[in-house]
Amino acid sequence: MNILSGLRSKLFLKISLIFVISLTTILISTMAVHRIFFMPKRFPGFIRNIVNHANYMIKDIGIPPDLKMAEKISHKMKVPIRINFEGKEWESDSGIPEFNSIDLPDYKNFEGFSAGFNEKGLCVYYVKDSYKILLVMHEKKEGFRKVVNSLIILLLSFAILIIIVLYFFIRWLLRPVKVLKEGVDQVSAGNLNIEMPVRSTDELGQLAVSFNSMTSRISDMITSRDQLLRDVSHELRSPLTRIKVGMELIEDSKVKHGILEDIAEVDMMISELLETDRLNSRFGKLKIEKTNIFQLISVVIKEFGSMKPGIKFDNFPDDLELDLDMERVLILFRNILSNALRYSDENGEPVRIKCEKRKNEVVIDVCDSGIGIPEDELINIFEPFYRVDKSRSRETGGYGLGMSLSKKIMDAHKGQIFVKSSPGKGTCIKLNFPTGSIN
Ligand SMILES: Nc1ncnc2c1ncn2[C@@H]1O[C@H](COP(=O)(O)OP(=O)(O)O)[C@@H](O)[C@H]1O
Ligand SMILES: [Mg+2]
Repeated sequence: MNILSGLRSKLFLKISLIFVISLTTILISTMAVHRIFFMPKRFPGFIRNIVNHANYMIKDIGIPPDLKMAEKISHKMKVPIRINFEGKEWESDSGIPEFNSIDLPDYKNFEGFSAGFNEKGLCVYYVKDSYKILLVMHEKKEGFRKVVNSLIILLLSFAILIIIVLYFFIRWLLRPVKVLKEGVDQVSAGNLNIEMPVRSTDELGQLAVSFNSMTSRISDMITSRDQLLRDVSHELRSPLTRIKVGMELIEDSKVKHGILEDIAEVDMMISELLETDRLNSRFGKLKIEKTNIFQLISVVIKEFGSMKPGIKFDNFPDDLELDLDMERVLILFRNILSNALRYSDENGEPVRIKCEKRKNEVVIDVCDSGIGIPEDELINIFEPFYRVDKSRSRETGGYGLGMSLSKKIMDAHKGQIFVKSSPGKGTCIKLNFPTGSIN
């Protein structure tokens, strides 16, 4: 379970927990109420009545006891009675506790009486001289205990059933949250063309509606930003060409050289912008052909000539052919290698290019031992116009378009680009080219 889905299940867990806690509280309080209201020992008044009642019966039986009377009362009132008078024992039923086993709290208001519960039920016990009588006023019924037990089991299974039903109900209820979360993940991964299904009219449904209108608004904003960039780039192209032509008429000088270099840079930026735009549009289809990747990279290395600290192949097969758009991948390596050189120390280690063949992809690593990129900047470097060092100079690079264009080119090849870097140690750019069919 990853962290984000954990978050969802946490909310889910919390709600479930609330239900379970409320249910247990209800159960416990029901049981407590039952105990308080149906357990007579909590009520002194009840015991008093019972003892009173027993007292009348004892009076009716009399001392010495009239056993016939005792038998009658016991039968009529359904009160098992045990009597011992001057050593003679009599009992109305079997199973009445023996006198020597009786352990009941004294009943303070009547002399000689004790009363309370024992295993037989609610009993009243009276002793006077050699006369002892025990009355089981309220028999505990075995059956009753069983009924209570099965009632508790029934209640518990009912509670468990409710919890299970609730579990599925909450899951069903929170399903839109999962869908929403997946949508948000998609958006953060850069995919704005998703439409959230709106299944309900409740708050979650409204959230989906708001989410959809938000993504469509952001998507519109990005479209108009791209449109602006495209228009400006196009508009700049012709004056730039005119300036270049005009420059030819000016005498050679240091100033002219400087201006020409600036123009070349702006020209490069416009090309990168327009190239990015073309890759975005449906006319920007790749021209895929079998290309020897070693030779392609060699071309770029040659272009950089003797730029320090140099570039080295590291175990790179020279016969590996990949299906790719040569022109675009040239642009990609031009940018990545020029970055690697530019952000390296001239006297440092040379840039290394490695290649690894995997099952369905070829992984090319370009690693330098340069200044590196701070960790919190890593996610930004694929954004257009993003540069770690905001101050731009001719030596340290362009307009921050290279990496964004590189990512576009890798995306178009259905490949992936990753960056690993540690400041002061160096940067590795990993390019995954799929070896299956690209189109
Ligand atoms: N090999 C590298 N070493 C250090 N920083 C790099 C490297 N590659 C890219 N970067 C950082 O990423 C930013 C974006 O790169 P890129 O889009 O090519 O723009 P730039 O025009 O600045 O080269 C650069 O400004 C730089 O700060
Ligand atoms: Mg660059």
